[in-house]
Amino acid sequence: ASSLSGRSFLKLLDFTPEEIRGLLDLAADLKRAKRAGEPHRYLEGKNVALIFEKTSTRTRCAFEVGARDLGMHAVYLDPSASQIGKKESIEDTARVLGSMFDGIEYRGFGQERVETLATHAGVPVWNGLTTEFHPTQMLADVLTMQEEFGEMRGRKVTFMGDAGNNVGNSLMVVCAKLGIDFCACGPAAQMPDSALVGTCRALAEESGSKIELTEDVAAGARGASVIYTDIWVSMGEPAELWGKRIELLSPYQVNARLMGEAAPDAIFMHCLPSFHDRKTDVGEEVYQKFGLPELEVTDEVFEGPRSRVFEEAENRLHTIKAVMYATLRDPQ
Ligand code: CP
Ligand code: NVA
Repeated sequence: ASSLSGRSFLKLLDFTPEEIRGLLDLAADLKRAKRAGEPHRYLEGKNVALIFEKTSTRTRCAFEVGARDLGMHAVYLDPSASQIGKKESIEDTARVLGSMFDGIEYRGFGQERVETLATHAGVPVWNGLTTEFHPTQMLADVLTMQEEFGEMRGRKVTFMGDAGNNVGNSLMVVCAKLGIDFCACGPAAQMPDSALVGTCRALAEESGSKIELTEDVAAGARGASVIYTDIWVSMGEPAELWGKRIELLSPYQVNARLMGEAAPDAIFMHCLPSFHDRKTDVGEEVYQKFGLPELEVTDEVFEGPRSRVFEEAENRLHTIKAVMYATLRDPQ
């Protein structure tokens, strides 16, 4: 297996199926070690910087706890605490942080920002979510799927709703790479970019899977082992979009009827956070404005026996540790 030592982790398109499988195996092993209480401070003494230009619960905590488990120190830079892109260019920030840290995580806006950071940092850079992609999320998702079903090749994964967002795009890429059938099910206006669909169709041909795009909910759900969804308005998008998105995406709400159309053993997945109820400020605001008590997924499905959302969230930790370890360890 090729070594990922010294590489950045910016998008899954940059990695071979073997490299992605290697990271998943490593994550499963780190999960086992953590559960068994085996120490794994393989990166003792290293330092990582975590830049967040958008908010986070899971990704930040996975990087911080993961860094600590591996023996490292993490420094968190929140949206207001750094000069990046405002008082200082990304190029200069990259050179400064690259001289102090062994690795840098970045969550923010356009993919080009994380790519620029990686070009100038001289140390591995990890994409913690951009407008276009969310690659670390995908490792956690596939690990969760494999824990449920074993080998995923030949199974169908359907993303319902805002299929062209960062999570939908990345899910299409990882499925195409790993030979998993993928279906983007949503309104035409919210589909992944056609160039990316073309790239993924070519990858799917190599890996022996299919990429399907459909507006038909029943067709999308039919035979799927995984029904996946995400919030209808992503970070960085204007809140005014809610009205339009509700109108477009309501037919794709994941509810018991929709789950009933999927495979009998289908599971429900969501990267989180979710506005499945009114316990959040945004959920309450949307309810007040539009009268919808449930959005992309119903409480019944989210809390139901097929939901794997919290297993998926835990797997963010193990997979992010695998990414840091694989890229920061000495070359083999
Ligand atoms: N799924 C995910 O990335 O969650 P956070 O935004 O909380 O990091
Ligand atoms: N699509 C969501 C994912 C959050 C983890 C967003 O970008 O806000």
